[in-house]
Amino acid sequence: MINIWKTNKNKKILDNLDRDRLPLHIAIIMDGNGRWARQRGLPRTVGHRAGVEALRGIVQCCSQIGIKYLTVYAFSTENWKRPQYEIGILMSLLKEYIRLELKELHSNEVRIHVLGNISQLPKDVGEQVLKACDKTRNNKGLVLNLALNYGGRAEIIQALQAIVDDVINNNLSLESINEEVFANYLYTADCPDPDLVIRTSGEMRLSNFLLWQAAYSEIVVVDECWPDFKEESLLDTIRVYQNRDRRFGGIKKVEE
Ligand code: FPP
Repeated sequence: MINIWKTNKNKKILDNLDRDRLPLHIAIIMDGNGRWARQRGLPRTVGHRAGVEALRGIVQCCSQIGIKYLTVYAFSTENWKRPQYEIGILMSLLKEYIRLELKELHSNEVRIHVLGNISQLPKDVGEQVLKACDKTRNNKGLVLNLALNYGGRAEIIQALQAIVDDVINNNLSLESINEEVFANYLYTADCPDPDLVIRTSGEMRLSNFLLWQAAYSEIVVVDECWPDFKEESLLDTIRVYQNRDRRFGGIKKVEE
């Protein structure tokens, strides 16, 4: 495992962070693999492979600094529109990531969890993902949410269907439905809302990511493409987050 404390630069950034105010939950839109590759005259798939390396580093970094939840947008419901070849590469990279990393993630107490409908993934990929979730389910460290075949709108629709089903079958009364109850029907039922949503490659969109959960998240967009987003960039982004003033629709404490 890389040791992020090792480089002086990272140590300096870490010293400047308020360790008591780390975001509990970081969610990342890992964008720009294709552009990263194009800038280097390489095929897009090379960008995705470099993206997996970046993911490896960021997961380790979050685990080491004590982030409790990390959600990464690995494959969206809209990504099926990509050429079959690229979808195939993304699926095999996902399988390879789990195959190569599971042992170490498990020994570092990382718990893998999936957000999304994985029944539509290729069978072998779905099985591998479920195996990883099962093996790590009692771990007490970082919760790594892999958003796979995930879309915020689809998630809300499936929650609505499950709620209607429970109402029809008298397991839930119409009057008892509130925001908390609704949130319990989402893929993120056991997970707090993200404090910080990071998007790489400069695009300022949510792209159907955590539409319900990101209602009050701080959004930080960085210009780097995802393969260039290293530990140092993450620590910088957390520093930006710590300088934000979160009011959740209220006003500053000093103004009260
Ligand atoms: C966006 O880059 C990234 C994705 C569509 C998927 C994210 C995938 C990875 C980080 C690598 C695979 C990791 C796993 C675990 C499967 P883009 O292709 O949209 O880039 P572009 O906007 O520059 O074209």
